[in-house]
Formats: sequence, C-alpha cells, structure tokens
Amino acid sequence: MSIPVWMDMDTGEDDAIAIMTAFRLPELNVVGMSAVAGNAELDHTFRNTRNVLSLIGREDVKVYPGASQPLRQKLTTAANVHGKSGLASAVLAESKAPVETEKAWDALYRTAKEYQGELNLILTGPETNAAIAFFKYPDLKNYLKRILIMGGAAVGGNVIPAAEFNIWADPEAADAVFCTGVEIVMCGLDVTSRAGLTREEVAELDAYQNPACRLFQTCTELARKLYSEHHNETLLIHDACPVIYAAHPEYFTGTRAGVVIETRGTYTRGKTVTDLYTDTSYPLQQTIVVTDADRKAVADTIRIALETY
Ligand code: RIB
Ligand code: CA
Repeated sequence: MSIPVWMDMDTGEDDAIAIMTAFRLPELNVVGMSAVAGNAELDHTFRNTRNVLSLIGREDVKVYPGASQPLRQKLTTAANVHGKSGLASAVLAESKAPVETEKAWDALYRTAKEYQGELNLILTGPETNAAIAFFKYPDLKNYLKRILIMGGAAVGGNVIPAAEFNIWADPEAADAVFCTGVEIVMCGLDVTSRAGLTREEVAELDAYQNPACRLFQTCTELARKLYSEHHNETLLIHDACPVIYAAHPEYFTGTRAGVVIETRGTYTRGKTVTDLYTDTSYPLQQTIVVTDADRKAVADTIRIALETY
C-alpha cells in the first residue's frame, strides 16, 4: 500500500530535485503540497513548486500557499545558493493548474483528517506553515503519522556554524513543531552532507537532455559553485533525503533522541540541540536523528528518477 505524504517546501534547487524524485518513488502517494517562504520569497517558492509539477506532468497535484514570513524573525532568503527566483537560471513554463487560494495550514489539516492519522508530513523548508497548522488546529498532532524534515544538525551548521538554514530561518516554528510530540525523522546536515552526488554522477545527469535533467543542471548552478568553494567533492541534494527516507528507510542510519530548538542564542539561534552525544536524556525522545546513509543508494535513486522522466 503506498504511503500518503504531504510535502511542504520552500522550493529552491534541492527542493525541486526532491519533488522530481518523490514522483518517481512508487512507494509514495503525494496527496498535497504547500509552499513557504525560505530559499526565496513565497511568490517564487509557490510558483516554483507549481511549475516543477507542471514540468513532470503532475498539474493534478494541488499546491497551497503558506506563510510569506517567519513567525517572529525577519525573512532571510538564500539567494546565494538558489538565486532570487529560487531556481537559479532555470526558466520553466508557467503551470496551467488552477491557482489554489486555500491556506497551506487549512488544507493540510483537512487532508490529515481525511487520511485518519496515516499522513506523513515532509518539511523541506522553514517550518512556519506546520507551526501555524499546529497552533490553529491543536488536534492536528492526532492525525499525522510522523513528520520527516530536512533540517537541523546534531553537529555543525551551514547558515551559521551552530545551525542549519531551515531551522535558523524560523526557530520559533521549529520549536513549536518539535514540541508537538509527533515523531520526527530529522534528516539534518549530519546525513545530507554524506549523501551527495559525485562529480561523475553529476556529469551523467548533465549529459541527459530530458527536461528534468536540464532543470537539474540549471537550478544547481549556484549550489555547485558554493560546494566547490567549500571543497565538497559532492553536490548535496539536502531535501531529497527525507523524501527517500519515507520510501526507503533502509538506506539510512538513525538513532532515537531528544531534540530541542534554541530560539534565543546570540551565536546559536536555530541550533537543534540533541541529547544524542551526552549522558543526559531529554524527557521527550521524539526524534529519529538520521546520521548516515548508503550514499550510492540515495544517489542512484535521484539519478534514476531524473533520467527516467
Ligand atoms: O540547509 C539546507 C536547506 O535549506 C535545504 O532545504 C535548502 O533547500 C534550504 O532550504
Ligand atoms: Ca528547502
């Protein structure tokens, strides 16, 4: 039986690749999607999500608009990685799907109730929409199977040394989500930094001339520069990890732990503080902290997905 998932995204380059991967995983049934401000402003991330679905022939999947600002922080986008549009130099045809106006949090709640507790929520951007949904509908936690995120890091950070972008961008939202008690699968930088595409795999995808691979090539052009400056031998596709985990948890290694979110630190705002590496355990052990992956299995899943459109 396929796994019902809702994907809430700040569609930038790796979100776009995660979308194209998700729709090539027969184990998953994407029943709804929503957009949030993060990598780019909401109008870009909403449009990008719709247009990537259109590119892969899935205008039947509804996309709902969410928050244009974090709960308390001012919006900081990641144009250095994704470009102002969110998809670098990629130019996509405009989706012809009707433009949904129902808010992300309302649509998510309605759908979660429809799936009677079986819905898996995948978050690959700031967690603003999910937080608003939990605030507005306190019983939402009873209707979600689990939450799989790209976000956080047991060790390290990217946007600042202590924190990863999705959590740092809206730490209050992440705090609200991690306090719900819903089981969380945290695909943070610990695993995403170990699950990238090699130069050879990137070159193979670049050589394909189908629309999905052409999008891969154009939307990652800034990310490639960033990672090469950081001497990463691989191209990290962060957001593909929670998507692939939902279908193939066997590709990953994780440990149950407690995770709390720092919201006030001068140098540590947005840090996912975990009791994974300490003698002290937090009372709420709500998270599977994913720490490693079978890199080739993850890379092959992405590569085969994009090459077969
Ligand atoms: O830190 C990486 C995350 O931030 C990814 O989700 C990327 O799309 C950006 O949102
Ligand atoms: Ca993202």
